[in-house]
Amino acid sequence: MNSIIFGLSNSNNFEKNFAKEMKSDLGKFNSEQFPDGELHLKFDSKIKGKKVFLVQSLALNPNTALIELFFAARAAKDSGAKKVFGIIPYLAYMRQDKEFHAGEIVSAHHLASILNNSLDGIIAVDPHLHRIRKMNEVFFKGFYDISSVPAIAEFIAKKFNAENTVIVGPDWESFQWARHVANKINFKAIIFRKERFSARRVKVHYSKEIELKGKNVIIIDDMISTGHTMIEAVKELKKNNPKAIYAVCVHALLVENAEKKLKNAGIKEIYSCNTVPGKTNKIHLEKMVAEEAKKKFLKK
Ligand code: R5P
Repeated sequence: MNSIIFGLSNSNNFEKNFAKEMKSDLGKFNSEQFPDGELHLKFDSKIKGKKVFLVQSLALNPNTALIELFFAARAAKDSGAKKVFGIIPYLAYMRQDKEFHAGEIVSAHHLASILNNSLDGIIAVDPHLHRIRKMNEVFFKGFYDISSVPAIAEFIAKKFNAENTVIVGPDWESFQWARHVANKINFKAIIFRKERFSARRVKVHYSKEIELKGKNVIIIDDMISTGHTMIEAVKELKKNNPKAIYAVCVHALLVENAEKKLKNAGIKEIYSCNTVPGKTNKIHLEKMVAEEAKKKFLKK
């Protein structure tokens, strides 16, 4: 076997099915912390001459996860890996893509520089590409993003019925998930407009009249962080007496007790892709990511 897959400490077990789909060996990687918080890392499988895949989600503890990925990538190269690729289901720091206030650091650019200098390529799932519109604006060639839309669409089509379900995008940026998922499976969709006043205060509006009485509503967004965007959408939606409201997202960061807050606000169930460790992950992406990785990184 000339490729080997390692799950780093935030891989969320993604590496296991990913390795099966890739028909690659699964290697052993050991990550511990010294009492002062520094990392102690070790490859316990041979990597010399192989294509090495490091699976790491940069979620929940993004700074530690990033430094671990960076060290592992550099060490793999030093140990004679033929190529080193990052499989990064959640790519952090991509929302900080502009100097919103004078002096603010545009972290997305520096994240790109760290990864460009340590990896030969990456696959990330739905990174937050907004003001940076395409990966190649900041990442090198060989750095790819893939969309979770087909997997989300398949999941929703199996669980819900187009006749009595409406998909909602809570803000304009969610269009690329909400509208595209809806189009793929012929569900109705509406996209709200959002005003953000701070990290924890948002307001959503919609202009079109919608008939939601007695229907299931699925709010789809790329990520749920504090949950405020979803909660504001729920407040608006409830005025229309839907049967039940569900939340679907790619990346369920669910910080600051967001899951409980969302349930209290009236969301019946949260379904997310398995890009961030967590128990709402019902949409599995290993197969889709492996197909892309085989095409992009194993053929040559
Ligand atoms: C924003 O642009 C994203 O698409 C999400 O809507 C946002 O990050 C969700 O954050 P929160 O859950 O904190 O409202």
